[in-house]
Amino acid sequence: MKSALFNAHIAGIGTYIPEKILTNFDLEKIVDTSDQWILERTGIRERHIASAEQAASDLGVIAAQRALDDAGLTINDMDLIITTTVTPDMLFPSTACIIQEKLGNHTIPAFDLNAACAAFIYGLVTGTQFIATGTYRNILLICTEALSSVTNWKDRSTCVLLADGAGAVVLQRGDSSGGVLGYTLGADGRGGLNLYQPAGGSRMPATLETVQNDLHFLRMNGQEIYKFAVRNMVETAKETMNKAGLNASDVDLFIPHQANARIIEGISKRLEFPQEKVVITIDKYGNNSSATIPLAMNDALKAGRIKKDSVLLLVGFGAGLTWGGLALKWTKTTP
Ligand code: ACO
Repeated sequence: MKSALFNAHIAGIGTYIPEKILTNFDLEKIVDTSDQWILERTGIRERHIASAEQAASDLGVIAAQRALDDAGLTINDMDLIITTTVTPDMLFPSTACIIQEKLGNHTIPAFDLNAACAAFIYGLVTGTQFIATGTYRNILLICTEALSSVTNWKDRSTCVLLADGAGAVVLQRGDSSGGVLGYTLGADGRGGLNLYQPAGGSRMPATLETVQNDLHFLRMNGQEIYKFAVRNMVETAKETMNKAGLNASDVDLFIPHQANARIIEGISKRLEFPQEKVVITIDKYGNNSSATIPLAMNDALKAGRIKKDSVLLLVGFGAGLTWGGLALKWTKTTP
C-alpha cells in the first residue's frame, strides 16, 4: 500500500435492482414461514427478484452503464472489466465478456472473479493492484447476482434470504491523497461445504438425477456461516483499520456485507460503531451476495451519509469461505 505509485479512487457508482418485489408475506404463501420469523431472525422485509428473461449480465450491464455515466466516462475509456458473480449467465464465456459485448466494446480485457459474497472487496483489491502499478487508469468493476436462479423455493432456511441485484463502480487512478487506504483478504477452504452449489460443475455435471435431487440449488449450513461471520468480520475490520492506519473513531461509515441484520448489529457492537455509522439495507434488498456492499454504498450516498472525504470501512464474507476488508476515503464530490 505504501509502495503504490498511484491510489485507486471510486470515480463512479451505479446499481440496478429488478422491479419485482417479493415480500415476506409473499413467502408465507410459498413455504412454511412468517413475516415475523424472517424479520426477527434476518432483518429482511422484502427482496427484489429478476424476471425469467434476466440473467446476471442483464442486471450487471445496467449497473455498469450507470456507473460509467456517474463517472462521466464511456466504456471505451475503460482499461479492464472485472465482473464478480456466483450466478454467471453460463459457466463460460465469462459474464464479464458478455457484459463487455453488451456495452459495445470488443477489445477491453474482461474476466470474472469468484469470491462469492466477499467478491466486491476482492474485486476492489484486484483492481487497485493494476492501478497502483500504473498498468491501468480506469477499471469497471461489476458485481451482479441472480441468486434466484439457484434458490430452492422449497427450502425455507435459504429462500427467505436470497435476492437479485447488481452494483458497479469505476475505479480510477488518482493522486495519493485518499481513495483506497488499506485492505486485507483471506480464505479458508475447509469451510467450503457450509455454503455451496453441489451440481453443475465438473465434479457433478448436470444429469436428470441431479435436477430431480435439487442439486443445482444453493445449500447452506446457516448456523456455521453465522458463527464464522461474527467471529471473522470483527477481526477483518480491525486488521483493515490497522493496515490503513485508522482507529475506529476515524471511520465515518461502516458498510458490511448484508447477510443478516443480526450479524451486522453484533459486529458493529463489538467494533463499537454506533448505529449512525452503520449502513443496513438488508431490510429492502435481502442478500444479493457480492452486490450488497455497492448497493448499500449507493443508498448511503443518495441519503447524504457519504460526503467528500468520508472514510468508509467495507467488510465482506462469503462462500469459500472467503473474507475481505477495505478502507476508503471518498474523494468524489457528492451532491
Ligand atoms: N421460517 C420459519 N422457521 C424457520 C425458517 C424460516 N424461514 N428457517 C429456519 N426455520 C426454523 C428451523 O427449522 C429451526 O426450527 P427447529 O428449531 O424446529 O429445528 C428454527 O427455525 C431455528 O433454525 P436456526 O437455523 O437455528 O435459525 P437461526 O436463528 O440460526 O437463523 C439463519 C437461520 C437466518 C439462516 C441464520 O443462521 C443466518 O443468517 N445464518 C447466516 C446466513 C448467511 O450469512 N449466509 C451467507 C450468505 S448466503 C449467500 O451469500 C449466497
